[in-house]
Amino acid sequence: MRIDLHFTPHQTDELALREKAVVVIDVLRASTSIIAALGNGAKEIIPVATVESAVKISGSLFGDVILLGGERHGKMIEGFNLGNSPAEYSEERVKGKSIIYSSTNGAQALVKARYARELMVCGFVNISTVADVLRLPPRDFTIVCAGNNGVLSMEDSVCAGMLIAKVMDDAQFDVELSDGAQAARALFKSYGRNILKMVKGSDHGRRLQEIGFGDDLKICAGVDTMPVLPQIDGNVIRLKRDAEKKESPDHSVAI
Ligand code: MLT
Repeated sequence: MRIDLHFTPHQTDELALREKAVVVIDVLRASTSIIAALGNGAKEIIPVATVESAVKISGSLFGDVILLGGERHGKMIEGFNLGNSPAEYSEERVKGKSIIYSSTNGAQALVKARYARELMVCGFVNISTVADVLRLPPRDFTIVCAGNNGVLSMEDSVCAGMLIAKVMDDAQFDVELSDGAQAARALFKSYGRNILKMVKGSDHGRRLQEIGFGDDLKICAGVDTMPVLPQIDGNVIRLKRDAEKKESPDHSVAI
């Protein structure tokens, strides 16, 4: 098994991720909100890069089953139904709905990874679920951290390092780590003892506290609190079991 890692999606060529197994990590807060939404019964997430695409796509789909979610500068986008706090993606709000989702960094990473063979969404909240899937069967994979406006983010890197450590735990197979993957593992060893403290002290964590979203950090720092596996299914993200059942046809929108 070989594990590669990109600390931000900015230098990542989408064709380089084509046909690979890819894990996208945006702890604050895209991964956590997407995992919460699907865990609370949302039908699917449709990630889009721009607000304009979100509005355009929502116009072509049926009104009352569609919600628009995400953020710009951390705050809800004008005309959207949901912001980017995981707590907003409650069962009452999202059950059965398709959510068109756009955020500053996380959605960009998801869009970059759209040609992956397998694409999983990972945060601390579902980390063991993702690790278990990657170990069975063991396969090469690439982690794409969303980062923070083009630079490394501590919370995504430590989460990536924890994922690598979990995949390697007692492994009965050889694991080769890229330089990035080794660095993330080292960051996890140094900063992984108190996840909430690390998240609170990160650049993005501090910013979210300043703009009134401090409560979100506790949710995003919870380890294995939402043991579900969002993964790509055509152009949308669904829970693994829903993707396998193929209950409903794709909307076939471009992400
Ligand atoms: C992002 O995608 O940049 C984040 O999820 C931003 C946020 O914390 O809302």
